[in-house]
Amino acid sequence: MPVTTQELSQWKQQGRRITVLTAYEYAIAQLIDQAGIDIILVGDSLAMVGLGYDTTLPLTLDEIIHHAKAVRRGVKQALLVVDLPFLTYQESPQQAIHSAGRILKETGAQGVKLEGGYPLMAETVGQLVQVGIPVMGHVGLTPQSVHQFGGYRKQGKTSDQAERIIAEAIALEQAGAFSVVLEHIPSDLAEDITQKLGIPTIGIGAGGGCDGQVLVTSDILGLSAWQPPFAKTYTNLQQTITQAVQEFCIEVREGKFPPGN
Ligand code: KIV
Repeated sequence: MPVTTQELSQWKQQGRRITVLTAYEYAIAQLIDQAGIDIILVGDSLAMVGLGYDTTLPLTLDEIIHHAKAVRRGVKQALLVVDLPFLTYQESPQQAIHSAGRILKETGAQGVKLEGGYPLMAETVGQLVQVGIPVMGHVGLTPQSVHQFGGYRKQGKTSDQAERIIAEAIALEQAGAFSVVLEHIPSDLAEDITQKLGIPTIGIGAGGGCDGQVLVTSDILGLSAWQPPFAKTYTNLQQTITQAVQEFCIEVREGKFPPGN
């Protein structure tokens, strides 16, 4: 049976850790779905990882919908969540409903993710949930605010910041979010938030005390030119691809491929 948002809270109660990876296209989505991942996120990291931009800010709603449709065709089991790109939801709850509605209608995703806490985002999440759109929150280092943070820096290091992040996570839960991503914050803060919330927290660079973990797939595959210090590389596809391409070039140039020349 495909994963549902309802199951995630039960898993939290049972202490079953939740696994989340990103995907931006059909083939990778199909592979990671068949390998048993719980949630596939069409993250707006697509802008940097898949489209070569310096930040996530330039990504459009049409671009993420185009990629999410391809991912949907590859996903049979995992819960599919799609990021709302920068300035497709911050202007008003109505703008958020329009953008998130397009994502659900056009891609077949089961939920959306948005960045930020209260007061505006909690109100927006409340209205999205009221019209039946499941929402995953995202607090801590929210990459769409990179220029406000002055870089991709760890957040929540001062007590004021930490209190703000705790309040945001609680406000998102009260507004009806089904889960919250905690990005690049101290592990004790992430653990504290995880204990305070009934909905699952999904950590990235937030230590081992969260209910689940998310990473960018190209980072775990060793495909990224740059990756954050908290990512883990499980294989080196950069090397594998380079070797395969070099062998192909040599074989074609030497007349060894196709065989029988
Ligand atoms: O855009 C993304 O890929 C994300 C995850 C890394 C949480 O937001």
